[in-house]
Amino acid sequence: MSNLKEEVLSRRTFAIISHPDAGKTTLTEKLLLFGGAIRDAGTVKGKKTGKYATSDWMEIEKQRGISVTSSVMQFDYNDARVNILDTPGHQDFSEDTYRTLTAVDSAVMIIDAAKGIEEQTLKLFKVCRMRGIPIFTFMNKLDRQAKAPLELLAELEEVMGIESYPMNWPIGMGKEFLGIYDRFNNRIEQFRVDEDERFVTLNDDGEIDGAHTLKDSGLYDQTLDEIMLLNEAGNEFSRERIAKGELTPVFFGSALTNFGVQTFLESYLQFAPPPQPRNSTNGEIDPLSEEFSGFIFKIQANMNPAHRDRIAFLRICSGKFERGMSVNVPRVGKQIKLAQSTQFMADDRSTVNEAVSGDIIGIYDPGTYQIGDTLTSGKNQFQFERLPQFTPELFVRVTAKNVMKQKHFHKGIQQLVQEGAIQLFKTVKTDDYLLGAVGQLQYEVFEHRMKNEYNTEVLMERLGSKIARWVEDEEVNENLSSARSLLVNDRYEKKVFLFENDFALRWFNDKNPDVKLYNPMDQQ
Ligand code: G4P
Repeated sequence: MSNLKEEVLSRRTFAIISHPDAGKTTLTEKLLLFGGAIRDAGTVKGKKTGKYATSDWMEIEKQRGISVTSSVMQFDYNDARVNILDTPGHQDFSEDTYRTLTAVDSAVMIIDAAKGIEEQTLKLFKVCRMRGIPIFTFMNKLDRQAKAPLELLAELEEVMGIESYPMNWPIGMGKEFLGIYDRFNNRIEQFRVDEDERFVTLNDDGEIDGAHTLKDSGLYDQTLDEIMLLNEAGNEFSRERIAKGELTPVFFGSALTNFGVQTFLESYLQFAPPPQPRNSTNGEIDPLSEEFSGFIFKIQANMNPAHRDRIAFLRICSGKFERGMSVNVPRVGKQIKLAQSTQFMADDRSTVNEAVSGDIIGIYDPGTYQIGDTLTSGKNQFQFERLPQFTPELFVRVTAKNVMKQKHFHKGIQQLVQEGAIQLFKTVKTDDYLLGAVGQLQYEVFEHRMKNEYNTEVLMERLGSKIARWVEDEEVNENLSSARSLLVNDRYEKKVFLFENDFALRWFNDKNPDVKLYNPMDQQ
């Protein structure tokens, strides 16, 4: 690794955000194929073959046949090194999924063009928005009947509140899908034609010169009309606004048939930002600076059940990681030698010797790290900004099955909460332990780990979904607590109301206008 600057600037680190079934796995596979990281489609998630390449580390994963963790995949394309961080789907949705978005520099949003914007995409989009992450949109499945492209753009604007710039535009769809009009490269890419005829170059007016079979179809004229409309009334392309996450470039295509994917990848690499500076107690940390730093955004326990090991996922933010280097962990005030490190690929885990800003590596965790920990190597010690807190939506009341195991129970809960695996609350009146999560899977992981790591079986009573709102003032009348608006303390002794539903929240607000409530996810 000769030139640190060049290395860092070649990095593109992103997560794919989407609703399950929009085509995230299919697109990831195609990208990995372009990058030569895998040889066959079906390697990332072999639903049919039963081959799970990315991760089959945890018992639960094997039982459920899903990938619990946000895994990391890396490949090279032209001069770029691309890191893709996976964000798991709805059954395995968890706080980890959200936290993954703190470790990326951009996001790719895949939308099933027949369905438009769906719930999980919107949730993840909001986190990207909150963090100002640039978003690139891929409208997928154009080989099938889909919503009208203009309708899809309107949805982006109305539901998500983001402006869009279509980089290309579909010519027909479904059975009549002829290809895409590539505004950016001033060419048409034809669907299902031989490689040598695939691209048709356009003249300066954005039209085909001379005769062409495409012109025989009414769809060509319709596309030209729509392109004219976009040119006149649409948003202007702006690299700066893309970088700020205010404007999303939109690409149409079909991941399954590998159509429009390469054009998307090449434009993405051109406009997606390299590793960005991050805020710390010492101000912004420049990704090009020589001193090594990074932060831990996720801890995965029991990756290898035989060894009970834990892996901490580290996003490198500056300098160069070298195997065996010593780093400071300011929170614990200790120096640690990073002897065992792992790099993630699509089909295995391999040892990494060197990595730079933008890369994600796994480091062996003997039980030292917590989510959000900063690691530094220089004399200047600092800590990166605290990771955001995500509002839990699902709650359970938890107790130890065996009252004799209280000590283990408390220790287990404290550690798992500190690690960020789950959020803990205590009811104000009765001191019951409640757990909060953003997805059901977090409970399964919690139960599994309490049993296997802390030798404690737990009883969990489902309380279902609640709307959690934090109270601004320190003091609040405890008598306002009821079954429909339960008052609890979070782990920092901050008061939180858990409302049964939207109606209960509105009713409470009407009756108690003096009690100011907020959702932490709206404030970060
Ligand atoms: P996900 O990771 O976002 O959950 O989605 P995934 O890629 O697994 O795709 C979901 C389904 O949509 C798959 O079909 C996949 O083949 C299909 N699909 C993805 N991209 C396209 C596309 O561009 N066009 C069309 N027509 N279909 C697409 P499945 O039958 O549910 O899964 P499988 O059994 O084929 O794996």
